[in-house]
Amino acid sequence: MTSRRQFLVVGAAASLFKPARARAAKTAGTDYPYAEFDARIARRDFRDITRDVLPTPAMIVDLDLFEKNVKTMADHAKAAGIHVRPHVKIHKSVDVARRQIAQGAIGLTCATMAEAELMSGAGIKHVLWTKQPAGVNNISRAVALSKKDPTFMFVVDDPQVVDWVEEAAAARNARLKIAVSVFAGLTRQGIAAGQPALELAQKVAASKRMDFEGFMAYSGGAAHTKTWQVRRARSADDLAGVRETAELAHKAGLPVNIVSGGSTGTYNIDHENGLTELEAGSYVFMDTAYFAIGGKDDDSVYTDFKGALTVLTTVDSKRHPNGATIDYGNKAMNRPTDKVKGMPWLEVASQGAEYGILKWTEAGRDLKLGERVEIYCTNLDTSTNVYDRYYVARGEQIVDVWPIMGRSGAAQR
Ligand SMILES: Cc1ncc(COP(=O)(O)O)c(C=O)c1O
Repeated sequence: MTSRRQFLVVGAAASLFKPARARAAKTAGTDYPYAEFDARIARRDFRDITRDVLPTPAMIVDLDLFEKNVKTMADHAKAAGIHVRPHVKIHKSVDVARRQIAQGAIGLTCATMAEAELMSGAGIKHVLWTKQPAGVNNISRAVALSKKDPTFMFVVDDPQVVDWVEEAAAARNARLKIAVSVFAGLTRQGIAAGQPALELAQKVAASKRMDFEGFMAYSGGAAHTKTWQVRRARSADDLAGVRETAELAHKAGLPVNIVSGGSTGTYNIDHENGLTELEAGSYVFMDTAYFAIGGKDDDSVYTDFKGALTVLTTVDSKRHPNGATIDYGNKAMNRPTDKVKGMPWLEVASQGAEYGILKWTEAGRDLKLGERVEIYCTNLDTSTNVYDRYYVARGEQIVDVWPIMGRSGAAQR
């Protein structure tokens, strides 16, 4: 785990942490018209909406850092000759996705049918769903979306599913784009590489209803492997099977348009491993689990992408020494591995559904009642899932609000 000192170093080296400064919420005398708050946001009237008036806990996107992250990935992809089809599960936001597409992403990767419907419904093309449909609900939705949006693609790892979707596609006169999911070290999915994967690809290609597009292989174990050299070896190992399968498919005369996989952790590795596109997601915001994996030039901390997302909280009680209570508890996905932006001397702990505790041992440190503290979450997937919007900030000013799918958008599943 990254030590507190290492986090301090990251801040100094990569501007992850702005100089610590007590940021107070507006208290007495505040005349901000809260009755109109959501109406103002709906009108996109952000006058006077600064960080200090926001209801907390709230998710804040630092727009400059976010844009920098998206550009870093786009520049890398161009230089390395690989495409980016970013994963949306960590942000679940059409606004974020549109900015990724504007920077050259060839489409999007989704974990759920609902994400795929949301993104395709927003007019974004070339959405890839990386889970196969195995129930009547998802089979009929995947077929319906394929009919509505012929650029939509999904994966299969089982001949039984090929039969089910074939039948559903025939009943609706639909045509499907299919990739075969190949095992890449993560036991949750993927047919065995080599002959079994080739035979499944041939079955798809032989279907009158399906276009075989290529392979998907997610080496999830490599993504968070610590130190770049070990990660590089793990990824090469995990992706050797899909590489061999793609060669077999070429030899068998099957067109392999894509080999999709990869992650934020292996983005600067996987062009070596036969992938044609990266499904990386977390790089847009980053979380403390990713900071800790180490980068190519520094084993202790990963600074390729900056911490662009924080949870803003308020100190709302201060009755005990060396501790302060904040309004960031279990429901807001408080984790002991979270880190406080600009204040590496603080430790995060939960105290219940709506309460968190910040503790410190260093002498001479303190927090003020009403002070605002920003926290880097540990796992973007689970954290962003419980908020309904991102407040997008340039400095203190909120310049935009982006809805997060779920409570605010389409159904979750
Ligand atoms: C199928 C798939 N592809 C890619 C990723 C990589 O995402 P990240 O860059 O956030 O690690 C994930 C993450 O879980 C995934 O499930």
